[in-house]
Amino acid sequence: MPDLSVEIAGVRLSNPLVLASGIWGTTPELLERAARAGAGAVTAKTCTPRPRRGHRNPTALDWGHGLLNAMGLPNPGAEEEAALLAEARRRIGLLGVPLIASIAADTVEGFAEAAAAVSRAMPDLIEVNISCPNVASDHGEMFAASPEAAAEATRAAKSATSIPCLVKLSPLVADIAAIARAVAEAGADGITAINTLPGMLVDAETGLPILANRTGGISGPALKPVALRCVYEVCAAVGIPVVGTGGVGTGVDAVEMISAGAAAVGVGTAVAAGGVEVFARILDELGCWMVARGFESLPAIRGRVHRAAPDGRETYPPPVPAWRPHEG
Ligand SMILES: Cc1cc2nc3c(=O)[nH]c(=O)nc-3n(C[C@H](O)[C@H](O)[C@H](O)COP(=O)(O)O)c2cc1C
Repeated sequence: MPDLSVEIAGVRLSNPLVLASGIWGTTPELLERAARAGAGAVTAKTCTPRPRRGHRNPTALDWGHGLLNAMGLPNPGAEEEAALLAEARRRIGLLGVPLIASIAADTVEGFAEAAAAVSRAMPDLIEVNISCPNVASDHGEMFAASPEAAAEATRAAKSATSIPCLVKLSPLVADIAAIARAVAEAGADGITAINTLPGMLVDAETGLPILANRTGGISGPALKPVALRCVYEVCAAVGIPVVGTGGVGTGVDAVEMISAGAAAVGVGTAVAAGGVEVFARILDELGCWMVARGFESLPAIRGRVHRAAPDGRETYPPPVPAWRPHEG
């Protein structure tokens, strides 16, 4: 088997698969199950300084190409979450699987408050979620929407903890590279790209949106091309490690994400659909893919997309033919 270990912000993972936030990781028991099932690291559900009830049902729908969800970040608040994280840490510590806490807030100070609270549980990393599409900040938009606000939230979280922070970005921005540069300059130790992309589903009979929140975040297979593009652009812009997240459900998806430059790979909707057993399957597929092609470790795959363009264009990939309107 090839060497699948990776390091993110000084934290070693035995393999690159990371349980994405909000899926499965809502209790210490479930985080432990994901760790035992083969995840290289596990991310807890996002918590906010105060408890949140979340949105009314229906909050999620499997529409055949992934999920559309608007949970509204239901959580017990950062203090209570810190107790859950401490229990999760106790359960998975011996397994050697890093634990990632996730925080969000609607004010800059809230990021510092939540970071300080979860740090008491000593997670290995803190993911700073500035990109939930279903929760507005006091700016009226996501912190991930502007370089200045993204940097402010990053600085606030970093000022309140000595634990390395990954900042989670949104695909719903004109220039994700500019946001990535801003958070890197503000001290982010890594980036998770991406959160869900806002979308809507409508019931034809009633003419009503299906989710009670009307809009929600697209995840799963429909998100993969968006995530690959974002990871590619972020990795071209910054040197800090990126957890490529969005639509990964097979070993080949993971290869694609790492080829776009990701150091590790988030897996969310695939776990919601197939349970934690997907980790072993994806790892097996990734390992077999590498063996069949003679790759011995992940750095050999990482960033191949960046190396291929633009000079390799004469040979591979072939130039994209100009689009012509259909004639006749
Ligand atoms: C039901 C659901 C709940 C989610 N909750 C969170 C959350 O609490 N915090 C967060 O940062 N991302 C959350 N996400 C986003 C995922 O972590 C991930 O970024 C996104 O779904 C793309 O990855 P995927 O296609 O593998 O699911 C949620 C996604 C889903 C589907």
